[in-house]
Amino acid sequence: MNKFKIFLPVIAALFIFVSCNTPAQVKTDEIAVKVDSLIELMTIEEKIGQLTLYTSDMDQTGAFIRKEYESDIKQGKVGAIFNAYGTDYTHRLQEMAVNNTRLRIPLLFGYDVIHGHRTIFPVPLAEAASWNLEAIQNASRIAAEEAAAEGLHWTFAPMADIARDPRWGRMVEGAGEDPFLGSVIAAARVKGFQGENLTDLNTVAACIKHFAAYGASQAGRDYHAVDMSEIMLREVYLPPYKAAVDAGAVTAMTSFNDLNGVPATSNHFLLTELLRDEWGFDGFVVTDYTSIMELLYHGVAADTAHAAELSLEAGVDMDMQSGFFQQSLAKLVAEKRISEDLINQAVSRILTVKFELGLFDDPYRYSDKEREKNNIMRPDQLDAARDMARKSVVLLRNEENTLPIDKNIKTIAVIGPMGSNQRDLIGSWSAAGDWTKAVSLVKGLEERFPNANIIVEEGCAIEGNDKSGFKRAENAAKKADFVILALGEAYWMSGEAASRSEISLPGAQQELAEIIINTGKPVATIIMSGRPLTINWLAENSPAILQAWFLGTQSGHALADIISGDYNPSAKLPVTFPRNVGQIPIYYSMKNTGRPFDANSKYTSKYLDVPNEPLYPFGFGLSYTTFTYDNLSVSKPTYAMNDSIKVSVEISNTGKVAGEEIAQLYVKDHAASMTRPVRELKAFKRVWLEAGATAIVHFSLHPNQIGFYLSEKEYVTEPGKFSIFVGGNSNANLETSFELK
Ligand code: BGC
Repeated sequence: MNKFKIFLPVIAALFIFVSCNTPAQVKTDEIAVKVDSLIELMTIEEKIGQLTLYTSDMDQTGAFIRKEYESDIKQGKVGAIFNAYGTDYTHRLQEMAVNNTRLRIPLLFGYDVIHGHRTIFPVPLAEAASWNLEAIQNASRIAAEEAAAEGLHWTFAPMADIARDPRWGRMVEGAGEDPFLGSVIAAARVKGFQGENLTDLNTVAACIKHFAAYGASQAGRDYHAVDMSEIMLREVYLPPYKAAVDAGAVTAMTSFNDLNGVPATSNHFLLTELLRDEWGFDGFVVTDYTSIMELLYHGVAADTAHAAELSLEAGVDMDMQSGFFQQSLAKLVAEKRISEDLINQAVSRILTVKFELGLFDDPYRYSDKEREKNNIMRPDQLDAARDMARKSVVLLRNEENTLPIDKNIKTIAVIGPMGSNQRDLIGSWSAAGDWTKAVSLVKGLEERFPNANIIVEEGCAIEGNDKSGFKRAENAAKKADFVILALGEAYWMSGEAASRSEISLPGAQQELAEIIINTGKPVATIIMSGRPLTINWLAENSPAILQAWFLGTQSGHALADIISGDYNPSAKLPVTFPRNVGQIPIYYSMKNTGRPFDANSKYTSKYLDVPNEPLYPFGFGLSYTTFTYDNLSVSKPTYAMNDSIKVSVEISNTGKVAGEEIAQLYVKDHAASMTRPVRELKAFKRVWLEAGATAIVHFSLHPNQIGFYLSEKEYVTEPGKFSIFVGGNSNANLETSFELK
């Protein structure tokens, strides 16, 4: 047979193949062919190299790579590097790999681009308070655009961990306590980072973390053990990760915790049975920082090789920083303790992402000087950060319209450690953000109130007991027409390894607040923090309170927009604010118990020394206007299992200014085979209303959204009576009901 004859059937087959497949499928199949042929050529050492991720470092002179890692890169013993960014630097590292290794496989560059890269957006918990999915997606898109312009291919975000314990410092990195809100936000972030197509130059690969249930660390102490029923896991903790998988995230990260006795990093149930087999995730799994090594401390691995074996067998593809794969996998294969096939699968998943990013077409395509110059901290990116920041601020109290303040005000005193502060504004995990570029509250106010006399007194530091500034602060308050009390936590008090057992205002700030508020001047307190703080006294005594979290680069401008009334706040808490630490864990979707709270009956579920009610409920947030809800109705009294449940409600702006309301829909299942939460968020809508205007807002639910896990494997929606509550927070009491048949 001549060559032509062999080729004809191949061409015909290719034609059929191309004509029956979508372009995306063709591309995926093409990549699969390339990946397979590349793996054919690789030695075992080269394969293990692809499974190895090491960090770059930083000292006073700038970024550098450890000598031993440089040598590993040149020998193809490393497939990915994190904490390296900048076009020159990433280009240099990429050259080490491409110019020195036999197969010229490019490195993958990862980094924690969590809430912005250079332009720092509000911390994720703050963004979640916006309940604004388009804005959140856009924030992640801009973060990706900046990161990808500086040589980065991959971000370790979004963090999709549900967090119900504000002692846990990492609550700041996620979307709060609720599985529904957490899910839609995780999906929005993945879409923002990855865009339409991973090959596009303004996108980066996303990484769902930390898989799984890291947010349930016992007693809010970071890295601590997690023990929970699989039903709780599936109903509360897993949905946001699953939503991120469904949104197309191409990588996932294991968590540090163990889950029911098995560390996440060696957890076959999580990484293989659930993530891959049940959910169909086909990207790669990276460990968290040295978490393979930590299997020794967890006490499940006897030595380095055993730890490597357990994690690879469980479903890990890439080892972040332990070096255990590098040290042990070849030996494990030689000893036939693991099959080379397992390694091939991991290599294949990693190479697939490298192909999808276009790195094999041009390994330097992300390290582009022009893009680095033009795509960073552009005015439009800064504007988006400012807008995201305004959307994230929750107005917790506003007695007698204390806020906004009159634009012609004469004297404003800004008192407290967060007034001129820049360092803390960008929060934890601020990537390549430069805090010196952050706009302080005072700076924002000076620009917004050019004719006002703005007196600034720190009063006290964030921490410590030095009260020597109190007198000056009190005098400043007395001289002012309006006082802004700027209080909060330092940026490092939340984030990783930043759990607190007390979540009140640190240092002498509470005392400062009491002195200032007792002057009787009109006061608005601004709280910057990475978690809910127990601010009971302020909640009773400060005429106005703004929960500002950490708002990022544009903090001061965003706050000035709100304080001046140029922007009407609309954010709602993505997490319950407790009254004290003893109430934790506290969240709105609790169970009713067999003895629900009754103030007049001793033997009901309650505390002797604090109410059951939180200080502020989930979903709560005020506006400069007021909204009322009326005429809540369902389209019919009874629905079948395949119907859409149609709900409508009338919302009116009954105040004097236009504003946005976030209408929340909660569902209660009256009687089911398993106990159900008192209510669960199932939908929300943002509604903009001019003063005096009314709108009818429609929701549509499918019965499968209101089901539950009857057992680990069985999700059901049972017939029966359901109530629907719609309102502006999780205590909404406007109710209607329907029957599901
Ligand atoms: C954190 C991860 C992070 C990783 C890389 C770990 O300590 O838990 O969230 O992505 O470091 O920086």
